[in-house]
Amino acid sequence: MPFSPKRIAVFGASGAIGSAFINDCLDRYHTATVFCFARSLERIPAHERVESRTFSLEDPEGLNASADAIKAAGGLDLIFVATGQLHSTTTKPEKTIRALTYAGMEETYCTNTILPAMIMKYFLPLLPKHKRAVFAAISARVGSISDNYLGGWYSYRASKAALNMLIRCAAIEMQRTHQSSVIIGMHPGTVDSSLSKPFQRGIQESQLMQPKQSAAMLLDVISKVDQSQTGKCLAYDGTEIAP
Ligand SMILES: NC(=O)c1ccc[n+]([C@@H]2O[C@H](COP(=O)([O-])OP(=O)(O)OC[C@H]3O[C@@H](n4cnc5c(N)ncnc54)[C@H](OP(=O)(O)O)[C@@H]3O)[C@@H](O)[C@H]2O)c1
Repeated sequence: MPFSPKRIAVFGASGAIGSAFINDCLDRYHTATVFCFARSLERIPAHERVESRTFSLEDPEGLNASADAIKAAGGLDLIFVATGQLHSTTTKPEKTIRALTYAGMEETYCTNTILPAMIMKYFLPLLPKHKRAVFAAISARVGSISDNYLGGWYSYRASKAALNMLIRCAAIEMQRTHQSSVIIGMHPGTVDSSLSKPFQRGIQESQLMQPKQSAAMLLDVISKVDQSQTGKCLAYDGTEIAP
């Protein structure tokens, strides 16, 4: 039977891929409710089947409270984490080990590794025990250790590699109690967004995906994943990214 989630949570709802994913969910799943989480709700579209909530890494109790409220109202069958950062006003990807700073590494790890871990902690228990459900967090191909031939981007690469390990651990743990749940990392392709904007020089137009296209391909992959793929990192075309 095709996967047709009824209760979906999207974290990073204000982002390019996150917001495109929400719109695709609303188009495909006509009875689904989408719980949208973002730091600021300014850019979240109003829709009768969208429930928006703010969240923050600095407020794990707020995340816990939101999880409790959604659990009491029926839980979730799809969780999509589209948060992440490559650069910010205070940090940029390091080309050399000499550029590493404690503050920059901490910020990148907090966003790319610790935040998804906290979302897993509070929201994985909302998945049903005996019904198909998916948790997918956007990682990145550059988080693959075996595929790293270029080096650089130390903190970003390492934070995504660590995210992949967390996903693997959670997949193993969830298999003990939630045999129908699939936990995966995903690579969205090179996507036109504020995250990739400063690094798009040299990328051919044909290689740069629009968020809508990437989100649709990610949702296609999610709708087909099975138990044999839990714990893995899958690209937008369904292929596995080597650890
Ligand atoms: N674009 C690409 O080419 C590409 C390639 C590989 C992987 N990815 C991954 O895809 C994911 C989505 O990226 P995107 O391209 O859609 O970028 P984006 O448009 O910049 O979206 C990033 C999202 O993450 C949120 N975010 C960042 N830091 C946060 C924090 N500390 N706490 C809470 N939310 C935070 C942003 O919220 P605000 O709106 O509040 O800033 C925004 O919703 C990221 O994990 C990225 O690493 C992207």
